Amino acid sequence: MKRCAQPEEDIPIAEFIPVDLFEIVIFGGTGDLSQRKLLPALFHRWKDGQVPEGSRIIGSARTDMDTDGYVAFAKEACQRAQGEDWKESEWTEFAKLLDYQALDATDPKADWKELKGKLSKNVPVRVFYLATSPRLYVEICGAVSRAGLITPDTRVVLEKPIGTNLASAQEINEGVCAYFDEHQIYRIDHYLGKETVQNLMVLRFANLLMEPVWNRAAVDHVQITVAEDLGLEGRAGYYDRSGALRDMVQNHLLQLLCLTAMEPPATLEGDDVRTEKIKVLQALRRFTPAMAEKNSVRGQYTAGMVKGKPVKGYLEELEDGQSDTETFVAIKTEIENWRWAGVPFYLRTGKRMASRRSDIVIQFKPVPHSIFGDSETQANRLVIRLQPDEGVRLFVQIKEPGPGGLRIKSLPLNLSYAENFTVRYPDAYERLLMDVVRGNLALFMRRDEVEAAWAWIDELIEAWEEKELQVESYAAGSDGPVSSAVMMERDSRKWWGQ
Ligand code: BG6
Repeated sequence: MKRCAQPEEDIPIAEFIPVDLFEIVIFGGTGDLSQRKLLPALFHRWKDGQVPEGSRIIGSARTDMDTDGYVAFAKEACQRAQGEDWKESEWTEFAKLLDYQALDATDPKADWKELKGKLSKNVPVRVFYLATSPRLYVEICGAVSRAGLITPDTRVVLEKPIGTNLASAQEINEGVCAYFDEHQIYRIDHYLGKETVQNLMVLRFANLLMEPVWNRAAVDHVQITVAEDLGLEGRAGYYDRSGALRDMVQNHLLQLLCLTAMEPPATLEGDDVRTEKIKVLQALRRFTPAMAEKNSVRGQYTAGMVKGKPVKGYLEELEDGQSDTETFVAIKTEIENWRWAGVPFYLRTGKRMASRRSDIVIQFKPVPHSIFGDSETQANRLVIRLQPDEGVRLFVQIKEPGPGGLRIKSLPLNLSYAENFTVRYPDAYERLLMDVVRGNLALFMRRDEVEAAWAWIDELIEAWEEKELQVESYAAGSDGPVSSAVMMERDSRKWWGQ
């Protein structure tokens, strides 16, 4: 496979695969996602030399703005993301790729001629990125189609969340599929673009050591935690209708679960990986109301201290100060198949927790018989740290040196990314945007995956409703509600790091 040469830079960049010339239209081009993620990601790929000359980035939104205005908007976004690495001369070059088209894509009377005029017939890849509310996806796809802008090589990118339950997800999928074939639809879950999440597959399938112990015979349980220290970040309107279960578990945590538990795919090609992931979703144990009451916890943060600073409680961040929305969820589930039967999978995510920390912990079983008498031995544990301080630690038992009896310690074999690699980690969106242009669907969700995840989540929500499961308070800056620790204690276990 051809790889591009590295430009000389202080920080080495990772190798990359060249992509075809492309034009990307970002609907919602002036929104938060474009500002925080998409424009900075495209700028970075351009800086690293991956964006072919002649490619174009066209922002589109209702906002009445000209191209100069959009360039100024994009500059602020990219400058903020680049910090000290900012070079004005680079920006001047990159800015030539940018264009803007004011358009209400959902207005049936809107005139699409100008946008059409900006798109070239000779550019091989055309991408429509829908960074808008999911409620608008079908309408926008319909309008793009009626404007005659869909070529066989056009791709559409849909941001999460695809719907708010199974029915609305099906409606969106059905609607979008009326205009695009499944192979043209890229449903983003940005966790799949994270370096460490991709490393999960390498760790599992490029190391012979893992597979023999990656199953019910050797694994006691698995924990997946995605903890955030941030609160609502100005997204109260969206978040209060969504909550942690829909916002994080339906997509990011279930995707992590799938990659941890799936069978080895035959290849890394799009459908091989996705087919293995859906088998995991289909094997997830369904919740009855009684099981949900026992095996899940809903929490909501109150005021507290995060990283030494006082922060407001969730309700104080809302306009009307009332809500039953969960900002924390802990769930115990099982995967009902031969590999995992009887192995609990504990999932946990929350906002305003003590620190930002995502990890997957594979807790192995103790040795079957200890020959060390009274010396305490612990079971092996593999901790995959997804962010921050990315790395993998395998806790093994070793003899503490010195006389006076045999003492055994559990210490990690530590594989830290920072200590081993000096390359910059690209943001997940950089990888995913270039995968869209390359036509590589492997890291995007297929329709059936999204729907299977919603089916499972819907059942849990119904169970919560039936049992009227209330949110339990936890102080901002803590590890979540007490019941989350109690759920583990009941199984004689503890959350890792607590
Ligand atoms: C988004 C959620 O999908 O992921 C946010 O909507 C959350 O609520 C974010 O903060 C977390 O992403 P990351 O990459 O910061 O872990």
